[in-house]
Amino acid sequence: MNKTILGGLGARQFIEEYWQKKPLLVRNAFPGFGGMLTPNELAGLACEEDAQSRLVLHSRGKWALEQGPFAEERFARLPEKGWALLVQGVNHHLREADELLHEFDFIPRARLDDLMVSFAPDGGGVGPHFDSYDVFLLQGSGQRLWRVSGQDDMTLVPDAPLRILKNFRTDEEWLLNPGDMLYLPPKLAHWGIAVGDCMTWSVGFRAPSAQELATQFLGFMQERVALSGMYADPDLAPQTHPAELGGQMQDKVEAMLRAMRWSRDDVADFLGSYLTEPKPHIVFDTRRLSAEKFRAQFAKQGVRLVLKSQMLYRGGRVFINGEAVDMQGESQRLLIALANDRSLPPATNLPENLAALLHQWARAGWVE
Ligand code: SIN
Ligand code: CO
Repeated sequence: MNKTILGGLGARQFIEEYWQKKPLLVRNAFPGFGGMLTPNELAGLACEEDAQSRLVLHSRGKWALEQGPFAEERFARLPEKGWALLVQGVNHHLREADELLHEFDFIPRARLDDLMVSFAPDGGGVGPHFDSYDVFLLQGSGQRLWRVSGQDDMTLVPDAPLRILKNFRTDEEWLLNPGDMLYLPPKLAHWGIAVGDCMTWSVGFRAPSAQELATQFLGFMQERVALSGMYADPDLAPQTHPAELGGQMQDKVEAMLRAMRWSRDDVADFLGSYLTEPKPHIVFDTRRLSAEKFRAQFAKQGVRLVLKSQMLYRGGRVFINGEAVDMQGESQRLLIALANDRSLPPATNLPENLAALLHQWARAGWVE
């Protein structure tokens, strides 16, 4: 890891002192960083079908929110001030953005959400708020004044289309220049205000709520629970009130449901598929490609994950885009290397089963 991005701290020290605990300002974390997109290019991305984009407008105390994709004309009709454009998942569109994320490989990729880029003219922003995310806010072009607050008052502006804190009290503030970076833990109130035209790059790490995990896990387990037997009541007592749900029935059903169990492997499988599942708007570009052609290309160039593919592993089990794969020996070793490096170097001696699998993934548009 490049130590300048944490201001000279090692990953371990950063995690012990700051991660999920308190903000860290790093001056010149990315020396010379001015962003990799112009405001116009960002607006172009916001017009694309599969980009998640938002426009936040603020005028005379009122907030408005518009969801993309936008028509190009929308940007010609924007006021001079009082707005911000945010585009989520820029790492799915720009290889350099994906590479920027690898600077944060000291945090497990299982925690990574995405890279968001925002643009705001002077004074613009999304208002005072808090997130449930850990975020590294990297200043691209221009300047931004960041205010943070340790306040407990999380009262929101009523009826606003986005979550804006009603009473924000600044505890500390910093003016960030290009290449400076501010790390913020979840739930810390903050407010970023553009000083002149400003672009900010946010590397966000997801922190799912217990409720979200439980709901998703129950959905996942639906196809896996296998309980035997069926409800039986040879010991039935004659009923005096025919509509009454008897305590005996409740006891029996409760006992049946209590027999539901899950293993550590179920949890690993759930995590692997939940964390690599593509977001609903993501579409992969399928391709026609013969096995021979794929092999010839692999021998020359190797293979890499497309930007939209997510791959993780646990033990020897590999997860890609919501699916689990089990392979042994050399194939397993290569799959794990692909997950870690997001690419595999050229080779002519790929194991048969792995070559067939990678060919299938190339056709599905998961690798290229
Ligand atoms: C922004 O980049 O405008 C907002 C990022 C944030 O406050 O979370
Ligand atoms: Co925020």
